[in-house]
Amino acid sequence: MAELQVLVADDDPQMQLALKAGLSRGGHTVTIVPDGLAAVEALREGQFDLLITDQRMPKMTGLELLATVQEEYSHLPVIMITAHGTINQAVDAMQRGAADFISKPFTNEELQRVVDRVVAPEVAAHREFKRESGAMGRPIVTHDPLMKRVLEVSESVARSDATVLVQGESGTGKELIARLIHDASPRVHQPFVAVNCAALPDTLLESELFGHEKGAFTGAQTRKIGKFELAHGGTILLDEISEMELALQAKLLRVLQEREVDRVGGKSPISVDVRVVATTNRNLEDMVKQGKFRADLYYRLNVIPLTLPPLRQRQGDVILLTNFFLKKFLGNDAPVLPSDVAKALSEHSWPGNVRELQNAVERAAILSSGRELHEKDFLLAGSSLSTMLGGSLSGEGLSSFSHTADGEEESSLDGEENLQITPGMTVQQVERTLILETLKSTSENRTQAAKTLGISIRTLRNKLNEYREQGYFS
Ligand SMILES: Nc1ncnc2c1ncn2[C@@H]1O[C@H](COP(=O)(O)OP(=O)(O)OP(=O)(O)O)[C@@H](O)[C@H]1O
Ligand SMILES: [Mg+2]
Repeated sequence: MAELQVLVADDDPQMQLALKAGLSRGGHTVTIVPDGLAAVEALREGQFDLLITDQRMPKMTGLELLATVQEEYSHLPVIMITAHGTINQAVDAMQRGAADFISKPFTNEELQRVVDRVVAPEVAAHREFKRESGAMGRPIVTHDPLMKRVLEVSESVARSDATVLVQGESGTGKELIARLIHDASPRVHQPFVAVNCAALPDTLLESELFGHEKGAFTGAQTRKIGKFELAHGGTILLDEISEMELALQAKLLRVLQEREVDRVGGKSPISVDVRVVATTNRNLEDMVKQGKFRADLYYRLNVIPLTLPPLRQRQGDVILLTNFFLKKFLGNDAPVLPSDVAKALSEHSWPGNVRELQNAVERAAILSSGRELHEKDFLLAGSSLSTMLGGSLSGEGLSSFSHTADGEEESSLDGEENLQITPGMTVQQVERTLILETLKSTSENRTQAAKTLGISIRTLRNKLNEYREQGYFS
């Protein structure tokens, strides 16, 4: 890597020495100043490629210095030095525009790694690649500055074990971010276990999370290992945490505090080492005010808050994502998006965010079947693919499909079995759509879905594994 001119602002002589030694070893030239004001002066006089600053300094704090640099030298990357255990300070700094952070104490190697990540283009390119390739091969596609910020913060905090709370409207990519954090963390080779807190009533959720002993309650015929234990060494995703009832919230809080779980009916606690990522699409702070969510649990979870902007606030991403999904569904045959359609899609409000867009593109890919794309292929008034298919299974939704589909398909669709068979679809597409939509209509209950579909649960499981590998199902 090229030699850099590095400005260091830190008042602690020991840190000054450590930074100077570490950076000089990396071949960089180091200028040291004892506080923020001196740093501002040095920046006026010299040329620097990088600023490394302590947070706590006399005269001007690191954050104040960061703000000044942001205004006057917006291209100068800033690395914030934070005290051990003050991860939220670090996150705060990153959210205010710091390029990265390093927490005390650190080794030369750690310092070098952070510096490389911030300034070395080839390393940066590698990072970009990693981001594009995404969590477990699921890319996170975005050009939006706010989203990029979230991705950067995610990758940086992934190194720590700090609890992360991902907030955002439905379909904004919260689970994707949770997986990215796991994949970018040292726990990557350990389990990632997701629990949807909205999917089960509280009593079942408790044994799902913490496990139970044989005979703990009626129906507990065997011992069950909870998700926390299964996630030992890895990461647990507590999805839709807002839906957990207060009584269970208290038990969860204890687990987070003590880092040990009590199986239902168990005699002694079992210690677990688990990194927690929670998501919510409701505003937890409001729920705390309304007494629906425990304040103490909220503060435990909200160590690193990440908020995903809704799709309507990142309009550039709509087209980017549309093209990405067109490629995903149609491969190299993906047609060019006509500009009037692109405009209409950008102006749409996308209440279901990226998930809704993805569904709309899949539907358009099916409906257009090779011809040019029209706006109405994407934006069917008031009906999504799932309401169309879900509705059709109960005998509704048929008319909206034949009217809004391109006219040509009219009226040939007069039976439930025929519904998904649109010219241009492959048998696999029809099958996949039907299976995934049926699963959605049963709230992911596989047994019920298999029954509705008339296939064995084993076949269903195999299909889902296949779709998961292809990225259609997570
Ligand atoms: N930036 C993105 N790039 C590519 N795909 C994305 C992006 N954001 C979301 N998706 C896709 O959109 C779908 C919804 O994302 P995800 O499940 O992460 O959302 P969510 O916020 O967890 O939604 P919910 O609140 O409904 O659970 C997924 O299929 C995901 O792969
Ligand atoms: Mg989710």
